[in-house]
Amino acid sequence: MTKNSAKMDEIIRRDKRIFLTLPRVPYPFVVDHGDGEFAYDVSGRRFIDFSSFIGVYNMGVNSTAKVRAAIKGQVDKLMHNALLEFYSELPVDFAELLVSMFPKGESWKVFLSNSGTEAIEAAIKFSNLFTKRYYTMAFYNAFHGRTKGALALTNSKMVQREHFGPFAQGTIHVPYPYCYRCPFSLEYPGCGLACVDYIKKYPLSKEVSPSEVAAFFAEPVQGEGGYVVPPADYFKELKSLLDESGILLVADEVQAGYMRTGKFLSLDNFGVKADIYTMAKAIGAGLPLGVTIVNGKLGDIPPGSHSSTFGGNLAVIAGAYEQLKEVSAKRKALESSIRAKGAIALKRLKEMQERYEIVGDARGLGLMLAIELVKDKKTKEPAAQERTWIVKDAFENGLLLLEAGQSTIRLAPPVTISEKSLVTGLDILEESVRKANLGMLGK
Ligand SMILES: Cc1ncc(COP(=O)(O)O)c(C=O)c1O
Repeated sequence: MTKNSAKMDEIIRRDKRIFLTLPRVPYPFVVDHGDGEFAYDVSGRRFIDFSSFIGVYNMGVNSTAKVRAAIKGQVDKLMHNALLEFYSELPVDFAELLVSMFPKGESWKVFLSNSGTEAIEAAIKFSNLFTKRYYTMAFYNAFHGRTKGALALTNSKMVQREHFGPFAQGTIHVPYPYCYRCPFSLEYPGCGLACVDYIKKYPLSKEVSPSEVAAFFAEPVQGEGGYVVPPADYFKELKSLLDESGILLVADEVQAGYMRTGKFLSLDNFGVKADIYTMAKAIGAGLPLGVTIVNGKLGDIPPGSHSSTFGGNLAVIAGAYEQLKEVSAKRKALESSIRAKGAIALKRLKEMQERYEIVGDARGLGLMLAIELVKDKKTKEPAAQERTWIVKDAFENGLLLLEAGQSTIRLAPPVTISEKSLVTGLDILEESVRKANLGMLGK
């Protein structure tokens, strides 16, 4: 055992003793520092990052030197600004630039908080205020956060909800357009989007009156639930159903947004505008930031009805603004490079699907990509153990991957990753998949 691996073991031991249990990846990564597409453990070993540290470092691990300089400069000037009481210019600059990235022809209003779950809490409350309705709708396998309002919407795993209910807010869940495992056993496009029809015929006819539903919360590409991409026309159909009854569409862009799918907003891939958007993770450039963006047509909120002490914190916004200026200036070039790299990766994943029995599905949009592992292509029985084995084996070989859903591996590298590292990472992944496919588990 080297001195460094003893040190890593010791950190893990102390961590487990002091912290309440955290979910954690199935491999022992003790991170020290990172740069661009690489992260390094405390022994100095380098890993290619296909995680973006849970969708946060979209623009590179530890963000860019410019972002870090902006944060450092602001820290010396003023960190906390009490935006809910006092005015300051930087959050205004940031919010104005942010809404310039949003669908044109609308006036957008912004609320700043500190995390994804807070951005969702705000969206729940605002949708209640704007509609004077109190039911919400969301998808099965959704993840919208873990505070109690957001948790009423979240249900990607039972452990997230067990012992925490009942949930005050009446939430109706409906199936996500998860075509690989269609709950109606139909096939797209022959299905005619039966999953949208179902919402109209059942929950909105039998369970709750549409006139009492404030909002439908949707991840345009489902994240924690398994990186599931809906059919191209799904959100148009859903939106027109919601519009019939004045139900607001809330697009949760916390994981799929901020260029991940090759568009600034993942919903933009589907040609639909939401009424409310939530963002977090990557928008903070490595620091905690939640943002709720509301169509100005919905109105405003009464002063004092919702706010946050740290929302709009200057050190956070300095980094977020610097990063957003870069993203805004390079938007078109970024979009096309993400699309090009996403196409290379998806082609490779589809080849794996062809080649290996355990790869049941390969899917993705931009650089939000996944393979779903199965024991048998016909039965589609989830291969959760094999998935975990692959993720661990890839780690041993220098690649950071995260799991999602029941038996899915997600690929979410920084969108700025070089083609060379993307291909090297895919080589590592394929080698682990090949070995698992040969039944090398435990060998
Ligand atoms: C789509 C989505 N919404 C909300 C959240 C909650 O964000 P946070 O962990 O910052 O509260 C997450 C976190 O993974 C997410 O993926």
